[in-house]
Amino acid sequence: MSGIAHVRCVQLSSGIRTRHMADSSRLTRRETLIGGTALTAVASPILPSAAQGDASTLPPEDAGIALHVNGKAYELQLDSRVTLLDTLREWLSLFGTKKGCDHGQCGACTVHVDGRRVLSCLMLARQAENKEVTTIEGIAGEDGSLHPVQQAFLDHDALQCGYCTPGQIMSAVACIREGHAGSPADIREYMSGNLCRCGAYAGIVAAIQQAAT
Ligand code: FES
Ligand code: FES
Repeated sequence: MSGIAHVRCVQLSSGIRTRHMADSSRLTRRETLIGGTALTAVASPILPSAAQGDASTLPPEDAGIALHVNGKAYELQLDSRVTLLDTLREWLSLFGTKKGCDHGQCGACTVHVDGRRVLSCLMLARQAENKEVTTIEGIAGEDGSLHPVQQAFLDHDALQCGYCTPGQIMSAVACIREGHAGSPADIREYMSGNLCRCGAYAGIVAAIQQAAT
């Protein structure tokens, strides 16, 4: 395991926003599949107006949170209300995990926690403490070789815009591991929580069938 990364986080609470400026227009499909690692980000916090108010309007103090993500340990100071999704994207710069609906309805934010797929927009970072979190950036081989599911998505052209793809792949990896990829009907059922606005479903099912065999 590598050393612990200490991340001093700007408080994320009502009235605070961060802005990420990233040029994703030149990403290749391969880069999309491995988590958009070419992205760069700049955080630009805006101070809360509540900071000027009385104590009852002040957000809670940051708390220490220890996370283990893709084999790396992190110690963060975070508002305890921050979701795992926002922590991954805003503070750990793991932009492969996408925010679609932010309400548990699209599956774009799917990651694995202790090997089980979860919607990271519905999980607090604190709930992932002392657990192993895996994102799309963490499933390729150490030598850069694609995970079989990533390769199958390429082989079957199972994406168009690619926005849903990291969540689809993380869900597909779990679907296969759970033993729910035995037939197209099973795959459709157990992947039904992952929506694709581009309608790439035929390719997605074919890719999962390939990876499962
Ligand atoms: Fe989490 Fe849509 S962003 S389910
Ligand atoms: Fe565009 Fe799925 S490939 S939303």
